[in-house]
Amino acid sequence: MGGIAEELAREGANLVCVDVREEYAEKCAAAIVTEGRDAIGVACDVTDEDQVLAAVSRATERFGGVDILVNGAAQFNFKGVLNMPVDEWRRQTDIILTGAFLFTKHVAHLMIQQERKGNIINIISTAGHQGEPGNVGYGTAKAGLINFTRSVAMELARYGIRVNSLTPTATGQSEGLERAARWACGGLAGAPTGTTRFGTAAGRQPGRTAAQAAQPVALRQGCGLSGIRRC
Ligand SMILES: NC(=O)c1ccc[n+]([C@@H]2O[C@H](COP(=O)([O-])OP(=O)(O)OC[C@H]3O[C@@H](n4cnc5c(N)ncnc54)[C@H](O)[C@@H]3O)[C@@H](O)[C@H]2O)c1
Repeated sequence: MGGIAEELAREGANLVCVDVREEYAEKCAAAIVTEGRDAIGVACDVTDEDQVLAAVSRATERFGGVDILVNGAAQFNFKGVLNMPVDEWRRQTDIILTGAFLFTKHVAHLMIQQERKGNIINIISTAGHQGEPGNVGYGTAKAGLINFTRSVAMELARYGIRVNSLTPTATGQSEGLERAARWACGGLAGAPTGTTRFGTAAGRQPGRTAAQAAQPVALRQGCGLSGIRRC
């Protein structure tokens, strides 16, 4: 997610960096400020509606509204159906699905009030398209997010709000590790933050990161694109 934030900032966006871990939100915002843009870090559990509303209010107070929302909060929990405890299943699917639902709902209301166009991007995964053994909660929630995207895209099109999904494919860790070092986030070093790179299969774009792909989807105003994007 840090990579997407940095690419959006490079294209001129100011950012509200939201994460359940305050340190991550703050480090992300600090990095954006270092790059010359305005940013605030907001600690928020995306599954808690009051916290989501507070985060949207912070964005409105600081920046006067929201033009782009990227729903990417996720929890990784590599368990299959045979060993997944139900409370962990609920938590993981709640973060990925309910988190996107709550942020989309409240940011969409704000975008409609603003009376200007907006963009919402939901980050999927190949696991959401094809399933994955031993990763039942993640793949199921990401699959749900695909149809959430389709439904919401059709519902919000009339307000000039484009809703798309983006599916990162092949991954590598070097970019995330470099960012973790640059942001002085020791705890991030092992996490797959923003490490996604697109594969080199025919029709894909070698060397492009998910961050670089998200940026034109978010910033191309006036384009009618709405729906699912798989890179
Ligand atoms: N890295 C990959 O290999 C890969 C591949 C395909 C898709 N994706 C998707 O890309 C997105 C970003 O992945 P990433 O690799 O940057 O992972 P990441 O772990 O760096 O980012 C996810 C962030 O979500 C935060 N989070 C977890 N629970 C939360 C909650 N309840 N409320 C708010 N924030 C919460 C985490 O603290 C974390 O910082 C995710 O949606 C992921 O599913 C990643």
